[in-house]
Amino acid sequence: MIERTLLMIKPDGVRRGITGEVISRVEQKGLKIVNIKKIRFDEALARKFYAVHRDRPFFNDLVAFVISGDVVPMIVEGDSAVAVVRRLIGPTNASEAPPGTIRGDFANSVQENAVHASDSAGNADYEISLIFG
Ligand code: RTP
Ligand code: MG
Repeated sequence: MIERTLLMIKPDGVRRGITGEVISRVEQKGLKIVNIKKIRFDEALARKFYAVHRDRPFFNDLVAFVISGDVVPMIVEGDSAVAVVRRLIGPTNASEAPPGTIRGDFANSVQENAVHASDSAGNADYEISLIFG
């Protein structure tokens, strides 16, 4: 089924200059980038974006991190895009992410893990409307 998902390069990834590499991997996989931009989150947007984590102990750190620099969100479209992009990025803890995944190749931390991707079609719709309107 053709789906849309939100993939976003986080501030650590933008700082490290992996934007082009991430775009290449998405395109090489045969997925389509429907929209892309560079923005900086403010605190209100960050708290809405990560609202599902508001009761987690790392919530305040996560908000501070995601507003610490520019991010590059993109809408990615393709067959089973939600699950496929999650597989491309790899597991949350970049220190344990296998080589060949974006996190495995470009990050080494549980928090500063280079990219975000929607974990369900419902959350994809929420995140896309929050960021692209
Ligand atoms: P994301 O939402 O960014 O794609 O990451 P994810 O689904 O793989 O992981 P999730 O559980 O949704 O966590 C969201 C982000 O919070 C940070 N985190 N820090 N300090 C910690 O233990 C911890 N755990 C998670 C990471 O930046 C993670 O991507
Ligand atoms: Mg998540």
